[in-house]
Amino acid sequence: INAMADDINLWQKSTLNSIIQKGVLTVGLEPGYMPFEMKDKQGNIIGFDVDMANEMAKAMGVKLQLVPTAWDGIIAGLLTGKYDIIMSGMTITQERNLKINFANPYISVGQTILASKKHAGKKWSDLDKPEYTIVTKIGVTGEIATRKMFKKAKIRTFETEADAAQEVLNGNADGMVYDKPYNAIFFAEKGATGKLVHLDEELTYEPLGFAIRKGDPDFLNWLNNFLNQTQHDGTYKKIYDRWFAD
Ligand code: ARG
Repeated sequence: INAMADDINLWQKSTLNSIIQKGVLTVGLEPGYMPFEMKDKQGNIIGFDVDMANEMAKAMGVKLQLVPTAWDGIIAGLLTGKYDIIMSGMTITQERNLKINFANPYISVGQTILASKKHAGKKWSDLDKPEYTIVTKIGVTGEIATRKMFKKAKIRTFETEADAAQEVLNGNADGMVYDKPYNAIFFAEKGATGKLVHLDEELTYEPLGFAIRKGDPDFLNWLNNFLNQTQHDGTYKKIYDRWFAD
């Protein structure tokens, strides 16, 4: 009887239960990370994560509310209840996983280097020289990789991925270390300037996952089964093809 009472109590405390009660799923994400979340010309937030969030809300039978949040406070925002879940291309790192739970990975990426054209054909280690500057975004896995790998080059960090990429385009930096999908799209959009090269060898292994607060097995179970279902019934593939079509 006590065990049963505990189960009911757990469900009452579950974020999934409160989502159903409220009739709305709130999702924290930071736009600017192509193709997962970015703004279109009208200012709407679109992307892979947004499409997945829509499917998720539909499967729950609730409305979807996106909560744009700066990367810097995105985990804190989850922990203080500003939204139910983070769907923002977040890499599952063991350090983050000490503070939050992740559903099973929904895709994996790796760090690559968006570099000045003059570095075409080079390896990352050729760029680790004191005369070179490597840029990345602050607080992301790109920064962790940069600091681990580049011991001699100058390192500069930026608030947004767009500002970091712009530095390479402007010739103020030699390379930007960031998630491959972002670099590939930036290169596809700006490669015609003849100023860039994408050194697209993946330097890290990074599974991305949706993050929730700890201690919520009911929500975690629902998410993992939602992922499994959509990955096998064509829903995931349709969304993937929409954002990763070549
Ligand atoms: N995958 C990287 C990380 O977890 C970058 C994610 C950035 N996401 C975003 N929406 N800006 O650190």
